[in-house]
Amino acid sequence: MAAPKILVFAGSIRTGSFNARLAALAVKELALADVDVTRISLVDYPLPLYDADLEKASGAPENAVKLKRMFLAHRGIFIASPEYNASVTPLLKNTLDWVSRVREGNEVPLAAYKRRVFALGAASNGSLGGYRSLMALRQILELGCGATVLPEQVAVREAASAFEDDDTLRDERTMRALRTVLERLVETARQLSMTGGER
Ligand SMILES: Cc1cc2nc3c(=O)[nH]c(=O)nc-3n(C[C@H](O)[C@H](O)[C@H](O)COP(=O)(O)O)c2cc1C
Repeated sequence: MAAPKILVFAGSIRTGSFNARLAALAVKELALADVDVTRISLVDYPLPLYDADLEKASGAPENAVKLKRMFLAHRGIFIASPEYNASVTPLLKNTLDWVSRVREGNEVPLAAYKRRVFALGAASNGSLGGYRSLMALRQILELGCGATVLPEQVAVREAASAFEDDDTLRDERTMRALRTVLERLVETARQLSMTGGER
C-alpha cells in the first residue's frame, strides 16, 4: 500500500510568517510518519483577485489549474491559516475561490475538495492563536466547498515566542494538539487512499 500523499501550505507569504513556520513544523512531524509530504508556498502560485469577467474572458489562470491539480494529487491537506480581522487572509480566500472554479473534463464540481481530508492549524501573536480564522476557514471548506474537515485543529497563541530554536512549539499542550491533528490527518488520508476517496 503506497504511503498517503499529504499537501501542506500556509495562507501567508509574509517573510517570517508564523504560519509558514507552523507549516514547516507540520512537514517535519509528518516526515516521521509513513507518508509522502509535499510543502508548497502560495508565493509560487500568484493569482489575480477573482473576477468573473476575467474568468469568462480567459478561464481560470494557469496557477489556479496547477493548484487544483495539486489538491487532487493529495489525499490529505494541512492548511496553516493566519487570522485577519477574525477571518482568513484574502490570499487564502482568493486561492480557495479560484481553485473552486476549476473544473476539467467531466469532473464533479469542486472536485479538488472532494475525496480528500483537510486539517487546520493557525498561528497568531494574539491570545486566541488565530482560532477565529479556523472557524471561517472551516465554513469556507465545509459549507462552501463540501470538503471533509477534521474536527481536531490547532491554534498557536503568542506566536512570536511560541517556537523553540529547533522550531518545535514551546508549549507542550499545543505541540500535542498539533501532533493529534496530524495523526488524525494521516489516519484519515490512509483510509481514504484504501477506498479511492470513498468514505
Ligand atoms: C489586516 C490584518 C488584520 C488582522 N487581524 C487579526 C485578528 O483578527 N486576529 C489576530 O489574532 N491577528 C490579526 N492580525 C495579525 C496577524 O495574525 C499577524 O499579522 C500574523 O503574523 C499573520 O500571520 P503570518 O505571520 O503567518 O503572516 C491581523 C493582521 C492584519 C494585517
